[in-house]
This record gives sequence, structure tokens and C-alpha cells, in this order.
Amino acid sequence: MGTLTIVGTQWGDEGKGKITNLLSKKADYVVRYQGGDNAGHTVYIDDEKYVFHLLPSGIIEKDKICVLGNGVVINPESLFKEIQVLKDRGIGIHNRILVSDKAHLVFPYHKYIDKQREISKGSIGTTKKGIGPAYSDKYARIGIRAGDYINDKIFLELLTYNIEEKKSIIKKFDDPDNVKRNIIALRNKILKEFKKFVNDTTFILNQAIDQKKKILFEGAQGILLDIDFGTYPFVTSSNPSAGGVATGTGVPPNKINNVLGITKAYTTRVGNGPFPVELKDGIGDHLRNRGKEYGATTGRPRRCGWLDMVVVKHSIMINGIRSIALTKLDILDEMEEIKVCVAYTYKGKKITTFPHDREIQCNVKPVYKTLKGWKQNTENIKQYKDLPGIAKKYIEFIEKEAGCPVSIISIGADRASTIIKEPQFIHF
Ligand code: GDP
Ligand code: IMO
Ligand code: MG
Repeated sequence: MGTLTIVGTQWGDEGKGKITNLLSKKADYVVRYQGGDNAGHTVYIDDEKYVFHLLPSGIIEKDKICVLGNGVVINPESLFKEIQVLKDRGIGIHNRILVSDKAHLVFPYHKYIDKQREISKGSIGTTKKGIGPAYSDKYARIGIRAGDYINDKIFLELLTYNIEEKKSIIKKFDDPDNVKRNIIALRNKILKEFKKFVNDTTFILNQAIDQKKKILFEGAQGILLDIDFGTYPFVTSSNPSAGGVATGTGVPPNKINNVLGITKAYTTRVGNGPFPVELKDGIGDHLRNRGKEYGATTGRPRRCGWLDMVVVKHSIMINGIRSIALTKLDILDEMEEIKVCVAYTYKGKKITTFPHDREIQCNVKPVYKTLKGWKQNTENIKQYKDLPGIAKKYIEFIEKEAGCPVSIISIGADRASTIIKEPQFIHF
């Protein structure tokens, strides 16, 4: 079957961008199915750095068609800024971007509502990109879709309604008439090019599958940020989990049958909310500094902890993950010893499955298994057999705990710093 789905198994920033870019070489289409420009996916190729917020990480590969599915929320201003950066770097996008006519758009008033909620209610620590409010409008059935945006009459009617409805919040940040004028001015500027992107991507993708084309689905965020399966309410407003591919693209579930779980060799999280393995001492600082751990979208420092297998196993179950891409293994190179969280305790009782009660999530204590560190530089290793024996033991331990193989090992930010261990599991 010609599809492969990439999901983050933790709280985002697992290195999905690097792995997507690497695997996109084999793909005809690279598709985002949820989230918006809250994502920040970093790719390094020969010291050149690229960060993608909306466009799929395959866009730098020539000839790949990049799709923003109906489940994505798109800020038109961000999209055109990202396209401009690519054009400035000599990367052509001609006939390579498709936007679902059913994808909802994000406007400045969504950002205002996001900011206002962050001030007025217990802060989630959102990216303030207006993602939650845009999805709220979608479900309230007042949202503006890409297909509406390119229709003069419908767009103006919907915009007028939305500005009127949100007037009292908008006023706290700007004059509503001014906000409306600016939205219309941007639309006038980009409409001609935007119209070329908008299409029935559901039909196009299903037809492509029938024609035996290869499709790579690129998840944003991670399963612990999933609106249903994450650490609610400290989550994003979409389904990064594999189920989101079906609803976010219109490709049926029986054609989404290979899922690759991107897993960092330790755990990070930006924003607020429960984080059972968080380290407040020197090791946390070491991981953060060594991993240059600042959010690619917001620049905020990431909270750091040891690998949490309770979380990873929860993700494997929810997504039907067939194999794992273990990233940032090199960050552990200097460690004397390495811990892995294999269970939690709550009020003295052992828990081995991820709890959904928010009170329990906030108060579990990690149970660690301690392994020896390999204390050797791994960054330039090309083959699995050449990894230090102790590093292989660490990987085998993860495979045993996870109940599925590690197919890819990432040992540096550059695309070249990658070991393919089990190619048959990522074949598509
Ligand atoms: P994403 O959101 O899942 O795509 O991940 P981000 O791009 O937000 O964060 C991952 C960060 O780690 C980026 O700065 C990457 O360049 C970097 N990175 C990815 N894989 C590796 C790796 O194996 N080793 C190291 N040292 N850095 C990595
Ligand atoms: P990538 O795709 C890490 C977090 C925010 C906040 C919560 C809700 O790069 O892995 P939102 O703006 O979505 O309403 O914020 O989700 N968050 C991410 N954390 N990586 C991301 O994306 C994230 N996208 C959102 O920090 O805690
Ligand atoms: Mg990121």
C-alpha cells in the first residue's frame, strides 16, 4: 500500500520534520492533515536550515506535491510568508501546492481571541497563533473555508458576520473596521495565487492512491497534545493521532495502514500541563542545552525529562504504530547513566497505562529503569552494527518495552545523520 503516516508520540518537536523530509524522497505527495502554523518542523541539509510551519517538510524536494488537507487550519498571511521565504531561497513551488477547498482559515481575530483566553483563564501556554479559536469557529459552523475565501460574495458575507460576532473581543486589540479592511487588503493581494492552490484534495488524493502513487502524511504536534487522547486541557485543538488522517484528508482508514511513530530518546514539552518525567535538576538543563531545546515556533524553552515509555506505549496503542523512528539519540552520548520511565506510581499504587484523569496525570511519580550510558560520539555512525554495544542495548530495551521495532535512528539534526535499521517497516 502506498501510504505512510508520520506521527509524534510525545508532546511535539520529536523531529518529525527531519524524518518527513528524509522519507519524502520516495513520495509523490506530502500531506499535512491537521494543525496549523503552531507547528515548527526543522530540516537541516548540509548546514542549510529550513523551518516549516504550514507547508509540508517535503516542499524542498523538487517535484513533490504538497497538500494542506481539509483538517488543517491555514493562516493565509503565514502561508504566503512561508512561500516567499522559499522563493527567496530559489525553491520553486509552481504547481506543487494544493489547499483543500474545505480547509478552514485563520484570521487576526482568532489570534486576538487566543491571546485574550490566555490572559483571562488558566493559561494553557498556547502558541497564540489562533489555532483553538479557528477550530472553534469550524465546529460552531461559522468558519471561513478556503473555498469560501475565493468567492467574493460569500467571503464578504462571512467576514462581516464574524467581525460583528467577535466585535467586543476585537475591540480590546484593534478597531474592528480596521481589522476587516486589513483582511480584505491581504486577500486582494494574494487572491490570484491562492485561487491556483484551492482544489478538491480529497478526490485528488484518493485518485492518486488508485494510481499507485506514494503518499506521505506528516503529522504535526504529538499524541499527548491530541484533543481527545492528550493531557486535556493542555493540548492543541486537533487530532494529531493517525485517526486524524482520515477525517483531515478524506482518505479512508483502510488506506492508512502504516504508521511511523517519531520518538525522541528523551522527552520534552513546551507550554503548561502535566509532565510526569520533568527534570528540574542539572540533567534537565544538560538535555535542554545539548539539544538546543527552544521551541521552533515560539522560541520558548522546552521542559525536559527522561524517555517516558508509558507515554510512548499509549501512542503506539492509539495510532497502531508499526515501528519507531528514535530521534536525538546523540543527545545522550555523554551520559554516565540513562533512565527510562517504565511505569508511574499514584498514591503508592503502580500504574502502567497512561491515566486520563487530570488530577492523576498531575500527580503521578515516574518509576525509572536505569541503564548504562555509552559515552561515545554517535553522530557520524552510518550503520546500526557500528553503534556502541551499550547504545544498541538501550535501543533493544526500547523495542522490548514498546513491543515494536525501531526502524530509524537519528543521531544528528542533519538529514545525513540517520541510520536505517529496518527498511521493510518504512516501505511504502
Ligand atoms: P518537529 O516539530 O517534530 O519537526 O521537531 P522540531 O523541528 O520542532 O524540533 C526538533 C529539533 O531537533 C530541531 O532543531 C531539529 O533540527 C533537531 N533534531 C532532529 N533530529 C535530531 C537528532 O537526531 N539529533 C539532534 N541533535 N538534533 C535533532
Ligand atoms: P510541532 O508540530 C510542540 C503546544 C503549545 C501549547 C499547546 C496548545 O512542531 O511538534 P496551540 O497553539 O496549538 O493551541 O497550543 O500545544 N504545541 C506544540 N508543542 N510542538 C508543536 O508542534 C506544538 N504545537 C502546539 O505549546 O502547549
Ligand atoms: Mg516543532
